[in-house]
Amino acid sequence: MEPAVPATSMEQVVNLCKRRGFVFPASEIYGGLASCWDYGPLGVELKRNVKEAWWRSMVHTRRDVVGLDSAILQHPQVWKTSGHVDNFSDPLVDCRQCKARFRADALDDAVCGETKKPVSADCREHFTEPRAFNLMFQTWMGPLRDEAATAYLRPETAQGIFTNYLNVQTTARLKPPFGVAQQGKSFRNEITPGNFIFRTREFEQMEMEYFVPPADWEKWFDYWRQQRWQWYVDLGLAPERLRRRDHEKTELAHYSNATTDLEYLFPIGWKELEGIASRTDFDLKRHSEASGKQLEYFDGQTRERFMPWVIEPAAGVDRAVLAFLCEAFEEQKLAGAPAEGGEKGAEDVRTVLHLHPRLAPVKVAFFPLVKKEGMPELAQKLEDELRSRGISTFYDQSGAIGRRYRRQDEVGTPWCVTVDGESLAQGTVTVRERDNMQQSRVRADELSAFVAGRLAG
Ligand code: GAP
Repeated sequence: MEPAVPATSMEQVVNLCKRRGFVFPASEIYGGLASCWDYGPLGVELKRNVKEAWWRSMVHTRRDVVGLDSAILQHPQVWKTSGHVDNFSDPLVDCRQCKARFRADALDDAVCGETKKPVSADCREHFTEPRAFNLMFQTWMGPLRDEAATAYLRPETAQGIFTNYLNVQTTARLKPPFGVAQQGKSFRNEITPGNFIFRTREFEQMEMEYFVPPADWEKWFDYWRQQRWQWYVDLGLAPERLRRRDHEKTELAHYSNATTDLEYLFPIGWKELEGIASRTDFDLKRHSEASGKQLEYFDGQTRERFMPWVIEPAAGVDRAVLAFLCEAFEEQKLAGAPAEGGEKGAEDVRTVLHLHPRLAPVKVAFFPLVKKEGMPELAQKLEDELRSRGISTFYDQSGAIGRRYRRQDEVGTPWCVTVDGESLAQGTVTVRERDNMQQSRVRADELSAFVAGRLAG
């Protein structure tokens, strides 16, 4: 079998993101802030669609999972009990020569501060002994900046679920196995952020804690590993660029007895996309001991009392967005004569994002063939109809039709609708497909049903 290769280069994706308004450097007018990024008009739609697809698959299509939106700031005791104050650290080394700082456990990717080359055996001779660097961001609540006012920006969304376990379980009347899902921002003071939106200090997570009878943990661990793999494949990631990696015993987090990472072949190599962890009863037990609240579940039927174990699929929104972008990106050389307005004689290359239609920021673009004869009015009327049904659209009447197609290909719009003379006379429009560039005529009054059907499929 051929070894898998990345779908594209990071540079191509970063350039497209900047050029077309997916992602901008944060605070760019002030020179930017290292590894901080803002999502532009198209990026925010893509990100929302990824989160929506996750919520739909993890919450809305299931009877056994409910949602939660807990605060970013929690009682500092939460982070002491969870083990984050004592254990959530990376080993940090300083180079006495070039003054750069590195994660001692990630030196394969490290670059020397002076030569800008990968760190060598010589470099390592100048390193200090590793010391633990806690990754939590600290702040103060209220006007006083003292120890008692210390608060932390959450480094994972999961703890808000554990501290609400009893609230949710009793109010929603849930019996294990059941899950609580949450999406939201997390913060980590990473030693070496980088690679665009792959590793940042502020990022978004999609996590679900699935509470199960202890004897069933392996069954549910396997189940969620399978489910989460399938979610990425269904939304377009090529299975050959996806793999599972089981954690060695020595790398397991302090709360886990087994963890599998789903890794994607990013342009920077195989990297973690999502972790599926068995968190045992570590968190509930610790919070129960520290708070004095009884968190065991009592099964009235079997008369059994147990502390549920937890299976946690934990994904990063930004990392998923990056993976979907990398997978979707293609610079396609079109054979033969320019198909849609490319220059004659010149090599015809189109940039296309083959995003899954559900993830695409714009679903349908509307083009009047010319800016007269009632075509703009009809195109906008049809566009309004789709918009009123919650389908995201874009209207463009400038430039040659071929160029308008290309602009939409580049941002992943699955369907372009052209209104022409026949539309006015016969009530039909041309629907052009992004991936194979084929065109068909569809009745204008059936357009929204056509698009809704394709999105549902
Ligand atoms: N609650 C468990 C937990 O947080 P994790 O493996 O540390 O586990 C889960 O994080 C996911 O969050 C990762 O697989 C990754 O997708 C994302 N993530 C973690 N740190 C990140 C960072 N600094 N930047 C972007 N995404 C990050």
